Amino acid sequence: MKAITHNTFGPPEVLGLAEVPTPEPGPGELRVRVMATTVNRTDTGFRDPQYLLVRLFSGLRRPKNPILGSEFAGVVDKVGPNATRFKEGDRVFGLRTFRFGAHAEYLCIKEDASIATMPRSASFEEAAAVCDGLMLAKNYVGRIDFARSPRLLINGGTGSIGCAALQLAKSRGAHVTVTCKTSAIGLMKELGADAVIDYTKEDFTIRGERFDVVLDAVGKSTFFRCRRILVPKGIYYSSELGPWWQNPLLALLTPLLGGRRVGFPIPTDRQSDIEMFRDLMESGKVRAVIDRVWPLADIIEATRYVETGEKTGNVVIRVA
Ligand SMILES: NC(=O)c1ccc[n+]([C@@H]2O[C@H](COP(=O)([O-])OP(=O)(O)OC[C@H]3O[C@@H](n4cnc5c(N)ncnc54)[C@H](OP(=O)(O)O)[C@@H]3O)[C@@H](O)[C@H]2O)c1
Repeated sequence: MKAITHNTFGPPEVLGLAEVPTPEPGPGELRVRVMATTVNRTDTGFRDPQYLLVRLFSGLRRPKNPILGSEFAGVVDKVGPNATRFKEGDRVFGLRTFRFGAHAEYLCIKEDASIATMPRSASFEEAAAVCDGLMLAKNYVGRIDFARSPRLLINGGTGSIGCAALQLAKSRGAHVTVTCKTSAIGLMKELGADAVIDYTKEDFTIRGERFDVVLDAVGKSTFFRCRRILVPKGIYYSSELGPWWQNPLLALLTPLLGGRRVGFPIPTDRQSDIEMFRDLMESGKVRAVIDRVWPLADIIEATRYVETGEKTGNVVIRVA
């Protein structure tokens, strides 16, 4: 089969199209013919790890997973021994967080892993584009107490995590303010934002408005800058470690002090999450936001674009 592989860490140019053996599903596994995948920030972080922490997962000296790609949508092509949950021909989508393998024509996955039948009426490209952002967004949004009608500020509503967090929080009834560039204001309103701050014109940390939760989905602020816009027991989340890894450290310290605090939950995913994402898409509460679609052969170009940090939503790779 064709796959995009890399045998060394480095810039997008370490990626190359290669012919590799097609995997065979083992007991309890399915083989999926991948129709669409994405290049996301997890892929780029594992291809060129900047932190020792990431190297513990990506491989210390060379890549542990030569084929990247954590999101996929496709068709079950072969069912392994004792696998009963899916059948050949099922349209499926899901996540291979830290296991990867979706930048290829086929992948094998345990039938009880993060895989579910696709949302009705979604295209393969749309289904491939939702899981990573929603999983990371759920990691934060899933911890918010929505019974208290929280006011949430999302810094960077236009990234993959931001678009997902905005839609997820709105689906649970929160009042959501987002920041974005001028040209994305319309999109943010379409996705349900109650208020939009143009970050090119205004600093969201000095407006005087208070929030129960600040989620920095682009990791561009700090807790210390955002403290003043949090209510006294407010919580700050960031998708980045922050300067000198301050966010995980503050997540340990600030809860002991009893006031405003930092949360830094470790993302996890399971099959029930993918089923929930499917239900959210089918009910129209969440939709895929796709910036551009590239063919598999153009993955280096797609990766360069993702690394600009300027994509809106997701970059999809059409595999078949
Ligand atoms: N914690 C984790 O496990 C994890 C996993 C994956 C990614 N991440 C991190 O999460 C961050 C977001 O990733 P992503 O894939 O969702 O999005 P992304 O590709 O980083 O896109 C960021 C978006 O935010 C906008 N933006 C940039 N600077 C901004 C600012 N100062 N204020 C408001 N908007 C801004 C960009 O548009 P313009 O620049 O055009 O305005 C772009 O649309 C990245 O830093 C990534 O490394 C964390």
